[in-house]
Amino acid sequence: MMRERLTLVIAIVGGISISGAPALSADVNLNRGQRAFGACAACHSLEPDRNMTGPSLAGLWGRKAGSLPSFERFSDALKSSGIIWDDRSLDGWLTDPDRMVPDNEMPFNGIKDARDRAELLAFLKEATKPDAAPQRTAQAPMGGMGGMMGGGGREPNLKSLEPNMQVKAITYCHDSYRVATADGKTRHFWERNLRLKTDSSQEGPQSGAPALVPAGMMGDRADVIFAAPVEISKMIEERC
Ligand code: HEC
Repeated sequence: MMRERLTLVIAIVGGISISGAPALSADVNLNRGQRAFGACAACHSLEPDRNMTGPSLAGLWGRKAGSLPSFERFSDALKSSGIIWDDRSLDGWLTDPDRMVPDNEMPFNGIKDARDRAELLAFLKEATKPDAAPQRTAQAPMGGMGGMMGGGGREPNLKSLEPNMQVKAITYCHDSYRVATADGKTRHFWERNLRLKTDSSQEGPQSGAPALVPAGMMGDRADVIFAAPVEISKMIEERC
């Protein structure tokens, strides 16, 4: 408690010395908060029940921690924490998740600056209100490969694929995969550089039509995303 207060006082003093004005307008707050949400958006959407690495944050205020029925990967630690999410508990969680809930499974170190947290929470409180999510996601980049940042950013919908992403055949020989796509090209990958994944959600590929998605910066890595696990070995032919 004491420590929390101390951090706040320091942050306010720091604010005065840097900008000369401790208070920011609500607008600036929300914009900065939305940008700060970029640190969360790779794992959390703001759309109801659209779960990624982490649970959807839609409708977060007033929710019991670890209770979202559509998210099946909550840690026991979070489920049994008894926390109800509100301004105060979220500020504690974002300061240091591990201190608040030891053994939780959110891979995030926390935000040490009290003003940064306050701005993020001001944005989040608006954006997670039951009727706010659609409006927010409308601003997110749609369909682009870089759609990971911003409010609830989206990855491309794999149901309608560009030909260069439509996998037609995969062969496996020695330590390599060859992936043939609908644009007539065949790409080679070292077996450790090709990841085989599934996505059964609405955004996942059509069954029988897996998607090749580039991964990493160097062009030597990619994911092939299937609609279901049974398709994986059916699709891959061992042939040299
Ligand atoms: C690398 C992925 C990742 C990042 C980045 C991340 N989270 Fe999480 N978050 C998770 C996971 C996984 C859980 C579930 C943890 C558990 O069950 O112990 C979680 C849980 C939560 C919860 C609890 C939800 C509930 O229903 O109880 C909140 C709130 C939350 N995160 C907010 C945030 C915010 C805000 C940020 C950005 C500052 C953030 N997270 C960044 C993965 C992430």
